[in-house]
Amino acid sequence: MSYEIIKALHIISVIAWMAGLLYLPRLFVYHADTPLGSVQAETFKVMERRLLKAIMTPAMITSFIFGIWMLVLAPTLLTEIWMIIKIVCVFGLAGCHGLFSRMRRDLENDKLPYSSKVYRIWNEAPTLLMIIIVVMAVVKPDFT
Ligand code: HEM
Repeated sequence: MSYEIIKALHIISVIAWMAGLLYLPRLFVYHADTPLGSVQAETFKVMERRLLKAIMTPAMITSFIFGIWMLVLAPTLLTEIWMIIKIVCVFGLAGCHGLFSRMRRDLENDKLPYSSKVYRIWNEAPTLLMIIIVVMAVVKPDFT
């Protein structure tokens, strides 16, 4: 497969992954303000589970597969400071994914460890990381 096709599949994957990372904590905000055991709370559980398992996790895996595939085809990219900054931020995103996965499990078990305000704050983290990642990936700033 050509490098450009892999890059296109990479970008499609990261769009799907980012959509979930931006939407899931938003669902947590509303879920946290919904009475436990209500029909609405049970609906949020289904939405959160499907978003994470059917969209976010597969999209994260394919983002890594196509990203690493390009690094294997162009290993010199790993000597670029912008790529290092990008990869550090990507691990930040993967950390958010893991945290959101744990938060989802808590809410599914009717545990409310955080107020909706905390979920609102965590909602901003993937946005900030995405901005840095996309600027690094597209602008490729020369730090030397
Ligand atoms: C999961 C780990 C990731 C790895 C290993 C990775 C690696 C790469 C590599 C090697 C390229 C090609 C660079 C080039 O040839 O110019 C690339 C392109 C790109 N990546 Fe990633 N990436 C990852 C995650 C992400 C994420 C999470 C985002 C967005 C939030 C992202 C956004 C982009 C964009 C927009 C491009 C296209 C840049 C361009 O062609 O101008 N990547 N990535």
